[in-house]
Amino acid sequence: MSSSTHPAYPNYRELFVGLEVEVPLLSGARGRYVNLDNAASTPPLKAVQQAVNEFLVYYSSVHRGTGFKSQISTHAYEQAREVVLRFLGADSLSHTCIFGKNTTEAINKLARRFPFTSERDVVLTSGMEHHSNDLPWRAAAKTIHASLTPDGRLDEADFDAQLARYANRLALVAITGASNVSGYLNPIHRLAEKAHAAGALILVDCAQLAPHRKVDMLALDEPAHLDFVAISAHKMYAPFGTGALVGRRDIFERGDPDVTGGGTVEIVTLDDVVWADPPDRDEAGSPNTVGAVALAAAIRQLEGVGMDRVAQHEAALTEYALRRLPSIPGITVLGDIDPTRAAQRLGVIPFGLRDVSHFKVAAALGYEFGIGVRSGCFCAHPYVLHLLGLSHDEAADVRRRMLARDKSDMPGLIRASFGLYNTMHEVDLLVEALGRIARGEYQGVYHQNTASGEYLPEAWQPRFEEYFSI
Ligand SMILES: Cc1ncc(COP(=O)(O)O)c(C=O)c1O
Repeated sequence: MSSSTHPAYPNYRELFVGLEVEVPLLSGARGRYVNLDNAASTPPLKAVQQAVNEFLVYYSSVHRGTGFKSQISTHAYEQAREVVLRFLGADSLSHTCIFGKNTTEAINKLARRFPFTSERDVVLTSGMEHHSNDLPWRAAAKTIHASLTPDGRLDEADFDAQLARYANRLALVAITGASNVSGYLNPIHRLAEKAHAAGALILVDCAQLAPHRKVDMLALDEPAHLDFVAISAHKMYAPFGTGALVGRRDIFERGDPDVTGGGTVEIVTLDDVVWADPPDRDEAGSPNTVGAVALAAAIRQLEGVGMDRVAQHEAALTEYALRRLPSIPGITVLGDIDPTRAAQRLGVIPFGLRDVSHFKVAAALGYEFGIGVRSGCFCAHPYVLHLLGLSHDEAADVRRRMLARDKSDMPGLIRASFGLYNTMHEVDLLVEALGRIARGEYQGVYHQNTASGEYLPEAWQPRFEEYFSI
């Protein structure tokens, strides 16, 4: 199907900054950049750019400033919290919105602030997590990983078994809403009911889910409610260094903050401290007000489009990609390859080519076709090795070689991930480029850096200053 035969879709591209930008290609020509790496970071919305520009003229210190600019900055910052809370179906009576850098910081904060006790000291997570929803728990508590099915879904029978096994000790279930590798969605509300029935709370890592699906934390008296949610603004079209942890207010009303200093206190004497109420207790130092405004503007825009329409557009792209990708010689698409189920997963598609290293495929796509994807293990090493079906011994061998600083044949995958602005035509461009790479029709002479595994083509000397410099 050529791009001209694609059904008309709403022109979401008009909403974004920078989509028409051309980048240098190895051939010497320039081509319009195709970003299929949205699971990592997304381009900014124009509404975000505009809100930031409008806000910057008023930007000033927040919270304790008395001038008008401080007041309006404080107002904007606090309003942004309300926007985030409402977007996630939460409210400021039962929940608090703590701004931070990103999902990783949000989860680390919860791991340090969660009231584990000697009786309730176990976290149940899964084998499909991003490292950011795994390593913080390992540092804070006894962490159990629910198993996966061979095709990489959460094995809910094993989840149930672990829940039963640790029921009396379980403090928290920490699970991803959607996988950044396979795009699988987890049944978060059903897992929440199970966690609550076992006397535990639940965190859902919504770094991937929130930009693509409606997330509803529900009221705390509903058994399926979510106690904590973490998000990253740079994956939601607002790349200004903000993320948020939305969580039960009662948890953050207790205990000492994990990071102390200015802003976290009500009263300080030389030998005593009274901590501030949430969320201030957990936001040490001057906050990223611009980032909060940017995130709120992105949320307003996403709500304006409607999360149902976001999901619908991305499902159409995913379905089309899953229909076209199998035509490429030697391709293996992992996870759910059924195009008719595209609406039941995110537009994150992992795949490999039989005869070309994932590192090289990603390099050729970028250098020769102007297509940005990601390759490797996507900060989810155990999950990718599972999807690839590596045995315990093979995984140990990989580990040995990596420890010896040799990533030259590190197992991994290529990942294409869609956002609201991607088009069917861009899927066609990906498929055409992959077909050429699979047939060996790429022009570059590539050399691999053994330590990083990455490939660089000979004679690649772009002058970045021609494009941007500070
Ligand atoms: C599922 C998931 N969780 C957590 C993270 C970490 O997000 P950040 O890098 O914004 O902290 C990511 C990033 O890719 C992710 O995909």
